Amino acid sequence: MAAGGAFFWTAAASVFICACLLLSGCPESAGRVGNDVCLTCHQGTLAPDQRSFVTGTHRFLDCETCHGDGLAHVRNGGRGGLFIFDPRDEPFRENDELCERCHPGEAGQYVQSVHFEEEAVRCTGCHDVHEASETRRPFIDNSLCLHCHAEIEFPTVEDIVAHTFHPYDPTGTRASRCVPCHMPPLRRQDQADGPHSHTFEPIRPIRSNEAMDAGVFPAPPNSCAGIMGCHDGTVPTAPVFNVDNPQDNIILQTIFDERYGEEEED
Ligand code: HEC
Ligand code: HEC
Ligand code: HEC
Ligand code: HEC
Ligand code: HEC
Ligand code: HEC
Repeated sequence: MAAGGAFFWTAAASVFICACLLLSGCPESAGRVGNDVCLTCHQGTLAPDQRSFVTGTHRFLDCETCHGDGLAHVRNGGRGGLFIFDPRDEPFRENDELCERCHPGEAGQYVQSVHFEEEAVRCTGCHDVHEASETRRPFIDNSLCLHCHAEIEFPTVEDIVAHTFHPYDPTGTRASRCVPCHMPPLRRQDQADGPHSHTFEPIRPIRSNEAMDAGVFPAPPNSCAGIMGCHDGTVPTAPVFNVDNPQDNIILQTIFDERYGEEEED
């Protein structure tokens, strides 16, 4: 069924393209052609391979939702990559606006980050919307972050351990995994789906108390507690701290200040 379907659509796409080229019925530039037409060329030989899109995280979108109408590009045979919106050509600061249309939460936080301010990493530096994996490189073994930060700050495991004050076991107990500390989940329910903090700054334990004082329940996670699988009792060797208990958060904040320094005054 799948192969037959693909053949049908390939054939149908070719007919469609030919019809557009031969007849005068197609508008000059505006007009959509659909994913199947894009993928007749974007299969690695004629044009960059994007077939992984059909199993990717954004498979339910049209290519043209992000790339704009493709008819003119297709009528030109794709030559020179002309007549199609390429987000890579956008200036750095405009680049994330495409993602912001559908992910305003992550985008709103990201613009507060050093990654944005220093024009160091775009959304697409960590995410490839054409692929099935959530991030370009795995984050559970730190390779996503260390791809850049090994060279900048952490050339050795010893450097990481000195930074985190934890043993190094990112794929096992999660100790010294960058993401739980730097991108903790913003709520305790459905952590697999996020949302995860995109400022990349750790969230201090005292923030959970401040949120509870403001009436938020259950208490939102911080970088130490309230994250499934860190200090919640599921790791036998890790001390347990209850994020709903203000006293536990005060103890954690004291340890945090000793290890990583107190918060700077604004
Ligand atoms: C007739 C074949 C063909 C079809 C159909 C086609 N493309 Fe292309 N596309 C190309 C070629 C060839 C390039 C240029 C590749 C290069 O220069 O390396 C290209 C380049 C691109 C680029 C990069 C532009 C740049 O600045 O280099 C994007 C984005 C793109 N296509 C998207 C699409 C989308 C979306 C569709 C469907 C609406 C589509 N293409 C349909 C052949 C095609
Ligand atoms: C959710 C938005 C989105 C969708 C949907 C999308 N793209 Fe892209 N595309 C991007 C962004 C952002 C870039 C530039 C950064 C990058 O390469 O990931 C890009 C880059 C590209 C490029 C140039 C990169 C290269 O490998 O040469 C091509 C070609 C392309 N897209 C084709 C497609 C095709 C074909 C589809 C549908 C099958 C598609 N895109 C669907 C956002 C999207
Ligand atoms: C037209 C809407 C739209 C645009 C534009 C868009 N996305 Fe998405 N994206 C979605 C939807 C819908 C989902 C799936 C539901 C969800 O998890 O929110 C999703 C999911 C994701 C996920 C989570 C995937 C997973 O495995 O859970 C990431 C990461 C993501 N998008 C990044 C991006 C980035 C980066 C861009 C910009 C290049 C972008 N998106 C542009 C609609 C969009
Ligand atoms: C594409 C390269 C790249 C990737 C991937 C990357 N970073 Fe960065 N990051 C940078 C650069 C460049 C800077 C700015 C220089 C600096 O201060 O370290 C930066 C800055 C930071 C800062 C702020 C440093 C400060 O001075 O306050 C934090 C925190 C950070 N990154 C964490 C992370 C985490 C966590 C990940 C993985 C989820 C990650 N980064 C992935 C390149 C990258
Ligand atoms: C146990 C929690 C924890 C882990 C794990 C962790 N960090 Fe940090 N990191 C912090 C804290 C806390 C700060 C200080 C932030 C502040 O001052 O608000 C920090 C600061 C940073 C900075 C800013 C510059 C500096 O050296 O002070 C960078 C860059 C950084 N971390 C990257 C990483 C990377 C990459 C990883 C994974 C290899 C990682 N961190 C793992 C807690 C952690
Ligand atoms: C430095 C790397 C990095 C950058 C830059 C980055 N993200 Fe993410 N993003 C991640 C990681 C890692 C996760 C997965 C966190 C987890 O599941 O623990 C994630 C998760 C997501 C998700 C899934 C929902 C969630 O919040 O967990 C979406 C959507 C998303 N990112 C969108 C974006 C958008 C939009 C941008 C730019 C405005 C962006 N990201 C920039 C690393 C990054």
